[in-house]
Amino acid sequence: MYSQITGIGSYLPGPPIGNDELARRGIDTSDEWIASRTGIRFRHLAENGETSSDLALHASRQALAAAGCAAVDVDLIIVATSTPDFIFPSTACLLQAKLGNQGATAFDVQAVCSGFVYALTVADKFIRSGSHRRALVVGAEVFSHILDWSDRTTCVLFGDGAGAVVLEASDKPGILASTLHADGAHHAILSVPGSVCKGVVTGDPFLRMDGQAVFKFAVRVLAEAADECCRIAEVSPSTIDWLIPHQANIRILEATARKMRIPLDKVVISVDRHGNTSAASVPLALDEAVRAGRIRSGQRIMLEGVGGGFTWGAVLLDF
Ligand code: ACO
Repeated sequence: MYSQITGIGSYLPGPPIGNDELARRGIDTSDEWIASRTGIRFRHLAENGETSSDLALHASRQALAAAGCAAVDVDLIIVATSTPDFIFPSTACLLQAKLGNQGATAFDVQAVCSGFVYALTVADKFIRSGSHRRALVVGAEVFSHILDWSDRTTCVLFGDGAGAVVLEASDKPGILASTLHADGAHHAILSVPGSVCKGVVTGDPFLRMDGQAVFKFAVRVLAEAADECCRIAEVSPSTIDWLIPHQANIRILEATARKMRIPLDKVVISVDRHGNTSAASVPLALDEAVRAGRIRSGQRIMLEGVGGGFTWGAVLLDF
């Protein structure tokens, strides 16, 4: 028993917001600085009342339509998010209600920017165990709601969005291999170190990051995870048609491709137009590349995530 992606969808809220627009809104930055350090030119930002489950709903409907099935046909819903609508219930349960599905297993996965790779791996294991037949796996984030807009070192990097896939049981692969890792010793280099206690926000409710430490960590573990995944699947990295790493920063993508000896034209890049959308970045990039006709049926794809925790992982699949 294997699992196979049968439908993909994505959603970006509002119009694209350019780097110059951020400067016009009073952030002490420039298009030149942001583009040269990160490759980011645009991002999309949700409205104040617009939540991760709202974004997830649009992406999910598209993915279900592409798979040719209805929400009631899904028996597993996993949402990867670090910006849930509420402390509880889970965003997956809220999405389930909005979709009109009753009875499916539904829960969130919290692995920050590795969230989608974690969620896809969990769904694959549910399906391969035989307990579930059809999963909706979503990455959805509204990071703009947890950014400190007076901190130019972080607020220019992120965007909002959602991506979703339908994953179904199949007698041929599909997902060939996956690997997931974490090392909580590095929790402080990227975090939102706040919480709610007795009705009061305690700690710091905004995203904080040691950019240079994150950069070095991300490049190392992305290359390692891809190598490990190929070893597990017993395939050579040279058989990969498309590499879709988490879209954090163009320089991280370039360094990872170089380390893996994969030419840059085989790397799907959307960070320039989306910014870093955390758990949504990989399915958003995948959806765009499929809809543009770049990724085609039968091709081999490596998906990769790295993010706060620290967490990281990779999924190798035949599309
Ligand atoms: N606009 C203009 N100037 C800025 C901005 C900005 N938005 N942000 C910082 N600067 C200034 C700094 O104040 C500093 O000025 P100074 O020298 O006068 O003090 C100067 O630019 C250099 O700052 P650094 O922090 O040293 O810049 P660096 O070259 O390290 O680039 C960056 C920062 C882009 C964040 C880089 O460290 C990076 O790419 N890190 C990876 C982090 C990342 O991608 N995180 C995403 C989330 S993590 C994840 O998804 C896995």
